[in-house]
Amino acid sequence: GSGGGLQGVQVLMTVGPTREAIDPVRFIGNRSSGKMGYALAAALQQRGAQVTAVAGPTSIAPGPGLAPIAVESALEMEAEVMERVTDCQMFIAAAAVADYRPETSASAKIKKDADSIGLRLVRNPDILARVAALDKPPFTVGFAAETDQVEVHARAKLEAKRLSMIAANQVGSGEGGFESDRNALICLWREGRRELPMMPKPALAAALAALIEERYGAQIAG
Ligand code: C5P
Repeated sequence: GSGGGLQGVQVLMTVGPTREAIDPVRFIGNRSSGKMGYALAAALQQRGAQVTAVAGPTSIAPGPGLAPIAVESALEMEAEVMERVTDCQMFIAAAAVADYRPETSASAKIKKDADSIGLRLVRNPDILARVAALDKPPFTVGFAAETDQVEVHARAKLEAKRLSMIAANQVGSGEGGFESDRNALICLWREGRRELPMMPKPALAAALAALIEERYGAQIAG
């Protein structure tokens, strides 16, 4: 798009799930499709943004104007993000990053000899919190999937991670969420909120991109 309000703004995004290796053939994953992330990337591009995406393995294809940097694990995603984030005015964390990874990944396929085996997990770094804690952080946008008290938990995350904005959705009951084609969001920033009602993900992404542009503009002006 030409003349969009995000013309020339460099946006770095994370998209999709991560895979945390257990051995060469097995991993811990999650149900993130990457749909919302790629739809948001396209909507931001339409507003003139220069979007770079660091993406875990998704089942869907990115938009035609996007050549994602492909990663698997949270640690790989973190490394690619930290390498690029200082050049960006905005960071949007749309990925479903695994909170934990296996402490060690076996170098050979684990055999089914034992009746039971244990898997010790260690915390992954919080990529979004790390970016937001930089000396000169970009405008940061996070997502939050909550099962209950969506707005309370999302506002707590906004403040704990010191984000510019957070987009929260209810998961685990009714419509919306990870594998759905539709979703609704409650968007929060320090001084305000806006509800984006249940709609198809491309339309929701367009509405969210418009709000991100608005809040980014307000921050620059303020
Ligand atoms: O705290 P919670 O995992 O709910 O926060 C979700 C937000 O934080 C999402 O924007 C997600 O992309 C980001 N995140 C991250 N790195 C992690 C965990 C979450 O960037 N390790």
